[in-house]
Amino acid sequence: MNGRSVRGISVAFLVAFGIAGLGARFSMAQGVASSGDAQAGKTLWEGPATFCERCHGVKGEGAFGPDLAGRQLSVAQFRQAVRKPWGIMPAFTEQQVSDQEIANMAAYFNSLPRVAEPGPWRIPIRAEATDGEKLIVATVGCGQCHGHDIGGPRRDAGAVAADFEWLKKFVYEHTTAMPEFWRLLEEEPAVRIRMGNYSRTRLPESLLQEIWRYMNDLGFRVPIGAQLSAGMTAANGVTYTLTVENGGLPGKGLTAEDILISLTLPSGSAVVSTTGRGYQGVRHDSQNNAEMAVWQVPRLGPKDKQTYTITLSRAGSGNDNLRGAVRWAKPLLGDGSNDTVNIAPPRPRAQ
Ligand code: HEC
Ligand code: HEC
Repeated sequence: MNGRSVRGISVAFLVAFGIAGLGARFSMAQGVASSGDAQAGKTLWEGPATFCERCHGVKGEGAFGPDLAGRQLSVAQFRQAVRKPWGIMPAFTEQQVSDQEIANMAAYFNSLPRVAEPGPWRIPIRAEATDGEKLIVATVGCGQCHGHDIGGPRRDAGAVAADFEWLKKFVYEHTTAMPEFWRLLEEEPAVRIRMGNYSRTRLPESLLQEIWRYMNDLGFRVPIGAQLSAGMTAANGVTYTLTVENGGLPGKGLTAEDILISLTLPSGSAVVSTTGRGYQGVRHDSQNNAEMAVWQVPRLGPKDKQTYTITLSRAGSGNDNLRGAVRWAKPLLGDGSNDTVNIAPPRPRAQ
């Protein structure tokens, strides 16, 4: 049974049972949505489930990709651009954005006024950009979502000791490769898969090789993550739990060595006690003129996890503004600098 006959049956079903309101949303000729809900389109565009706005602007005002606001594109034109893009834009599947959602987005943009002038790029080309950076920011546009240093994919490359075949899969067959990768790393999937599938003709393998070289020159990163829990009030202060973890794949991922963890103390707050190995005490951070609690860890291999607690005196009301960083001496990045990640602030507690 092919797709057309399936749609034929559903349209016939709607008509036969006289569901007029729903039936009117489908064009009889093609069996796909031809009119949309502008409010639903706006919600989808602005929400976390799609990243289209990184290339087209938060209000469709245009950026790396053309402006969409007030352009009066038909649903068919809009759908063609999304499913079979004309140029370098990646293609999005029906699982990512359905035909009805495409109609909703078209209705949203057609309800907006045209822009007098398209907006600026989200990630502009920096004056000091190398050829590799220009390639990903401007020629192909990966950098519009991943930043000029494509730092996220370099972390995931470090998590599995990736090779070029790995990159190819994520670029040309992104929508099938991504769920497999999340399963492999036992990670929680995102709301939806937000990157599309690139065309092998628009982005030929030779160009992708250059992107790969750029990622290698910058260096793969150790996928270290650090998270602070919300403070728990104790008899002598407020206790926070800090976890630092290497999210890589055992037997494959990179190991970080000579790791320094620092947590900046809110002014007026003192360390009452700590648990966990490697605590070095409080040091003065002259750059930020603040006191930091410091831990040292010799190494963190894939799936290694360290847990610490720190109890701070109540003094200083802004304890939940705690911030800090994890930095390691090895491996260094391609330019010889240390890699570092921020400690994520407490997540709002469930309930
Ligand atoms: C990497 C940047 C990028 C992303 C992400 C992106 N686009 Fe595009 N889009 C472009 C570019 C560039 C064009 C111009 C034609 C081309 O390259 O295919 C375009 C063209 C379009 C057009 C046709 C505009 C016209 O003038 O005819 C539509 C509609 C569109 N995109 C919608 C979307 C939607 C919806 C999404 C998210 C599901 C999306 N785009 C994600 C870059 C992007
Ligand atoms: C529309 C924004 C967008 C664009 C453009 C984009 N990506 Fe992605 N990419 C993502 C997001 C978001 C993810 C996480 C999975 C998902 O939601 O699709 C991802 C995942 C990846 C991954 C898998 C590993 C990881 O870090 O999760 C690689 C590799 C990758 N992107 C490389 C690229 C390259 C190379 C390009 C350009 C050819 C590119 N991306 C363009 C948004 C984008």
